[in-house]
Amino acid sequence: MAEDRIVFRAPRAADTLALGRALGVALGPWVAEGFVVDLRGDLGAGKTVFVRGVAAGLGLAPGESVASPTFTLARDHAVEGGRLAHLDAYRLDGADEFFAAGLDECLGPGQVTCVEWGERVTEALPAERLEVALEPEEGECEEPGDPNGPQGPRRLEARAHGARARAVLARWRALAEPRAATP
Ligand SMILES: Nc1ncnc2c1ncn2[C@@H]1O[C@H](COP(=O)(O)OP(=O)(O)O)[C@@H](O)[C@H]1O
Ligand SMILES: [Mg+2]
Repeated sequence: MAEDRIVFRAPRAADTLALGRALGVALGPWVAEGFVVDLRGDLGAGKTVFVRGVAAGLGLAPGESVASPTFTLARDHAVEGGRLAHLDAYRLDGADEFFAAGLDECLGPGQVTCVEWGERVTEALPAERLEVALEPEEGECEEPGDPNGPQGPRRLEARAHGARARAVLARWRALAEPRAATP
C-alpha cells in the first residue's frame, strides 16, 4: 500500500520552492478533477514560498506571480489546464466564515486549491486532500549577507488523506530530490 506520510527537509528557501515545484508537477494530472493542498505552519514558515513552487510546477501563466493572499483571502491564477486557487485562512475563524466569504467556490473541478492556515477551516475542506505542515528546524544555515534574506532549514511533513492524495504523494516523492526525503 502507498505511504500516507513523508517528511522532507528543506535547508534553504530554494529547496522549499523546489519541493513545491515537484508537487505542482505531480498535481498536473489532477487539475481537471480538482485537488486540495492544506498548508499548515506559523507565520514565516514558508507556506507562500511553497505555493510559489507549486504554481511553477503547474505551469503558471507567463507574467503571473504568486503573492501572499493574507489580505485578499484568495488569489486566482491561470495554470496549464485550469486554475490555481491560493487561499489564506489566517483571518478566518472556522468553516462558517470560510463559506460566508464564498471561498467554497475555490474548491472543486478545474483547479488546484492551496489553503494557507488550512487548520483554521478544516471542516470546510474536503476529506480527500494532502496536508503539508512546515516548521523551522534547528540548523546552522544562517548566512549573513545572503541576497535572498536569512536562510533557515525547514521540515515539511506531508500527510495524505484519501486514496487520490496517496497517489499524489507517491508521485511527489518520486519527483522530489531523493535526498530531500527521509522515512
Ligand atoms: N528553508 C526555507 N524554506 C522556506 N522559506 C525560507 C527558508 N529559509 C528562509 N526562508 C524565508 O522565510 C520566509 C517565508 O515566508 P512565507 O513563505 O511568506 O511564509 P508563510 O507564508 O508561511 O507566512 C521567506 O522570506 C523565505 O525567504
Ligand atoms: Mg503566507
